[in-house]
Order: sequence, then structure tokens, then C-alpha cells
Amino acid sequence: MEYTLTIIKPHAVRDNKAIAMLSMIAEAGFRIAAMKMIRLSSFRAGEFYAEHAGKPFCEQLVKMMSSGPIIVAILSKDHAVRDLRSLVGNTDPEKADPGTMRKIFGNSIRENAIHASDGVEKALKECSFFFSEMERFSF
Ligand code: CDP
Ligand code: MG
Repeated sequence: MEYTLTIIKPHAVRDNKAIAMLSMIAEAGFRIAAMKMIRLSSFRAGEFYAEHAGKPFCEQLVKMMSSGPIIVAILSKDHAVRDLRSLVGNTDPEKADPGTMRKIFGNSIRENAIHASDGVEKALKECSFFFSEMERFSF
């Protein structure tokens, strides 16, 4: 069993897409090991995306991610990291394959609806960025 982190981004929560998105995730065989709705400060959003600090899109990314509530969850499954990345699709919804979540729910490369950890090590870090031991379960 492997764990990965997902975030339903503010615009998708605002547009009431969260239930449809979580259904698609469950249909694909993931279990929810932790979940909550929170709002990131721009400071915390900047910390989460520290790897992108200084890139041209970073400021707008941080602004978007702190613009409203997000739904953040730890998902479990065999090969959860790899399989969620492929369910989510290309960063740019225009380039994403048909049937992927970013193709279905994304508006643009910035407002691409959902985050998925992009490696096993990164997933561990991202899960503990958001959740304490008390808030997560071994489903
Ligand atoms: O999310 P993913 O790992 O696919 O892409 P990333 O390269 O790690 O970028 C993180 C996030 O920054 C993306 O999901 C987009 O929301 C945003 N981004 C952007 O606004 N403009 C870009 N040119 C690239 C990424
Ligand atoms: Mg990434």
C-alpha cells in the first residue's frame, strides 16, 4: 500500500466540483486515509510550492492556491503516486488526455483543478505538511 497527497484547488471547490472529483478518485480505486477543508495563507502556499520559488508563474500560483478553501486528502492504493498522476493528467488541461481529471475539471494551466504528489518521497513530505498522526488513518 502506498500513500499520496491530493488537493482540490480553490476554483474547483468554489465551482462545487469536489464531490464529482472525489467520486472519480474513489471509482479509480483510491481510499481516503485523511481529508479536510482548509484555507492556506499565502505564506503556507508559498512553503508548499517552495520548489517553484522564483519561477515566473509562482506568484500567481500562490495567489490562486490561497484564494479560498481547498480540500486536501491523503489517498491510498497500490502505486498510489504513479496512478494518481496518471488519473490527474498533464499539468496543462489543453494537453491532458481525454478522460483525465485535469481535462475534465481544469480551466487552464494555472487553474488545473487538482494537485497530485509527483514522487514517493515528495508524497511523504506533502502528507505530513498537512496532516498530523492523529488526523490520518491506515486505510
Ligand atoms: O502540478 P504539477 O506537478 O503537474 O505541475 P508543476 O510543474 O509542479 O506546477 C505546480 C502548479 O503550478 C501547477 O499544477 C499549476 O497550477 C501551476 N503552474 C502554472 O500556473 N503555470 C505553469 N506554467 C506551470 C505550473
Ligand atoms: Mg509538481
